Amino acid sequence: MNVYDSGRMIDVLASLGFSVTEDPAQADLAILNTCHIREKAEQKVFSDLGRLREHKENRKSNQQEMIIAVAGCVAQGEGAEIMRQAPYVNMVFGPQTYHRLPEMLAQALRSVDSHKKQGRGVIDIEFPLEPKFDSLPETQRSQVSAFLSVQEGCDKFCTFCVVPYTRGAEFSRPVVDVIKEARHLVNLGAKEITLLGQNVNAYHGAAIHGQGEWGLGRLIRELAEIEGLKRLRYTTSHPLDMDQELIEAHRDVPQLMPFLHLPVQSGSDRILEAMNRKHTTKYYKEVIDQLRQACPQIALSSDFIVGFPGEADADFQETLTLIECVGYAQAYSFKYSIRPGTPGALMDNQVDETVKASRLQVLQDLINRQQLAFNESIVGTVQSVLLDRRGKREGQFMGRSPYMQSVTVFAEEPSLGEIVNVFIEEAHPNSLAGHLCNSDVMITAIPSVESKGQRVY
Ligand code: 5AD
Ligand code: SF4
Repeated sequence: MNVYDSGRMIDVLASLGFSVTEDPAQADLAILNTCHIREKAEQKVFSDLGRLREHKENRKSNQQEMIIAVAGCVAQGEGAEIMRQAPYVNMVFGPQTYHRLPEMLAQALRSVDSHKKQGRGVIDIEFPLEPKFDSLPETQRSQVSAFLSVQEGCDKFCTFCVVPYTRGAEFSRPVVDVIKEARHLVNLGAKEITLLGQNVNAYHGAAIHGQGEWGLGRLIRELAEIEGLKRLRYTTSHPLDMDQELIEAHRDVPQLMPFLHLPVQSGSDRILEAMNRKHTTKYYKEVIDQLRQACPQIALSSDFIVGFPGEADADFQETLTLIECVGYAQAYSFKYSIRPGTPGALMDNQVDETVKASRLQVLQDLINRQQLAFNESIVGTVQSVLLDRRGKREGQFMGRSPYMQSVTVFAEEPSLGEIVNVFIEEAHPNSLAGHLCNSDVMITAIPSVESKGQRVY
């Protein structure tokens, strides 16, 4: 979502004559677009700000300005604190106000001019009434694989999570707006679109003809009608919002890739309840069964938190059991991080950091084994790969398989942006390698993860 938001900020600023530079020393304006989800991400903001300050001072000694802005969820949550700790920051704005960048920038520049030595900061961390998306210019950036925000915010209030406070209440963009943006992205060269939302499958946007609302499954069917759009994905989902229409879209819509990131967080019902996830492990497994019935080759990914307050060894063992039972193609895992203002922060049964670290290691070892087994199960098959970038070596191209695996291909001259057939020869922990294969016949493998001697895919 932050990558998408940063892109949209670039679009807004392009209309004011700004362009992107990779070199901070050249920057008239530096924006840190920040994430507040865990403490580590937040700490990074302050160390990055320190580095930007040096560039700002160097520029000052050459009579050049550098406006420093902090955007995103840390700005939303800690705006006043940032201004206090880092008074050289000129602007602070949250994820819902970046369409107002032109006014904010003008204000920041006026304040720099009138104070010469140190500008007074501009803060904009409201949740504005005017919808942000209506005020953004169309992008001119072309990407083979593009992101498209369809939903923002969250009403689920998991007790560990800061998102409902920083991104605000759930909001879905109207279907017409989403389709318009998707068509535009395809015209600019996108072959794949990933629909984004903090809780994307809670999508309920105003229907095309102004009657009622559409869920994500219906939206996906409509997007699949766009000529030239070859692949669709969506992220991130909540198990409770996997409705029948969406599950059926996995059965019926060939453009919808057979890969789903569906976070479960924990395999212990006791901990799921304390997390206010509103579902049990049984419910989660039922959803996965239904998805596998609808789309037998679907591969799964999840997020896991270890060391949530009150998590005992037995709870953690249940998480490992769930992982073995489901079989993942990949997953993200984190130590629980206290977020001020969330209910979890007030719980008095916090888990020791060393216990968290050792649980994380055990969990990640298991996930890594599953990921490698999944990658190995693809060797010897032909996969369609969307080539989206050049590799480091001569003649090397990179792309993604339908299952989100990174694939390296050696080839004379395939064009970027093409979907090619690749015979997969090698599996590594985080990637595959193979060669171009002219055969039109796709060997569609049903990936398998062997676990405890039992085939779970
Ligand atoms: N501590 C650790 N991980 C967290 N996540 C969200 N909040 C926290 C927290 N306080 C993880 C969840 C979520 C992912 C985006 O980040 O697993 O799905
Ligand atoms: Fe955070 Fe996701 Fe829970 Fe919403 S559903 S509160 S975004 S973890």
